[in-house]
Amino acid sequence: MKTPIDIAVTGAAGQISYSLLFRLASGELLGPEQPIVLRLLEVPQAMQTLQGVVMELNDCAYPLLQKIVMTDDPKVAFDNIDYAFLVGAKPRGPGMLRADLLKDNAEIFRVQGKALNEYASRRVKVLVTGNPANTNALIAISNAPDLGPDCFTAMAMLDHKRAIGQLAEKCGVISRDIKNVMVWGNHSCTQYPDLHHAKVKGLDALSLVEREWFVNEFIPTVQHRGTEVIKVRGQSSAASAAHAAIEHMRIWAHGTEIDDWVSMAVASDGSYGIEEGLVYSFPVTVADGRISIVKALDLNEFSLERLRLNEAELKEERQAVKHLL
Ligand code: NAI
Repeated sequence: MKTPIDIAVTGAAGQISYSLLFRLASGELLGPEQPIVLRLLEVPQAMQTLQGVVMELNDCAYPLLQKIVMTDDPKVAFDNIDYAFLVGAKPRGPGMLRADLLKDNAEIFRVQGKALNEYASRRVKVLVTGNPANTNALIAISNAPDLGPDCFTAMAMLDHKRAIGQLAEKCGVISRDIKNVMVWGNHSCTQYPDLHHAKVKGLDALSLVEREWFVNEFIPTVQHRGTEVIKVRGQSSAASAAHAAIEHMRIWAHGTEIDDWVSMAVASDGSYGIEEGLVYSFPVTVADGRISIVKALDLNEFSLERLRLNEAELKEERQAVKHLL
């Protein structure tokens, strides 16, 4: 039997985790041979709900699930972990300004960044899902100097999958027929889902759809999909977000396909003129657990303008939390 790998999930009593935890426990991330320990972090007020979730996990009798730790202490949650799903964050309440949300959540990621720095394995892979995900990841990075930015990412995978879903529907193909879609920038309505290099069954996507559809339907649909799901379902995306989180980590652990890339928000290395250090979604490839930004893609003025808008928005968010960096 292999040595178990410890996986932390924060916000473990929330909606996304209610889907995520069961899939992790069934072995979807690390495969059928790898036992795992789940270390679940919540706030004290949510402990009872978490207790109920743990009862259900136990009731599944997953063969790979070696142990479950429930805690409200980040030190305990992050002890020697190799994977961290940082899902927990405060939702935006009625009348709450985006700036207030930024500040409240920023504090959470300052504390968790410090705890990761001190207690996590040195090769930990951290995925920030809790919003505002990019800036929360930036705060965690700033508070974890011993780990380094390569250990941290923020989630753009749901946007990436949404883009594939829309294009597949439009072209009447299945998702497997689609390659090289990308989503640039911030996980917000400013994000830029880009089809300029996308392929559908090997053909240029933009030669198969009208430019009008790309600009006036595809882009806004992907940008506003989260809001639309809330409107229709009455609650925010949860199962699809959990799926995206698992896909993101699975690809980080096992690599991208040879002829494709995915979108992940990582600390910019200055590629495409994006200020170094900002956590920004780029097309990336992954091999041996290392994420590399896809370089030197040709971008037209239409795309560059949208990249700059995202950079400006992320700089504004950074400004709002600068006391925590
Ligand atoms: P939820 O409100 O159902 O669950 C959040 C959980 O986090 C709650 O149980 C809460 O008690 C917990 N929490 C709050 N502060 C915490 C802390 N300091 N430590 C540990 N846990 C804490 O929300 P849901 O639907 O599960 O979404 C979670 C986050 O993911 C939200 O910020 C949401 O906006 C974001 N999200 C991000 C997506 C992305 O693509 N990046 C997609 C969908 C949601």
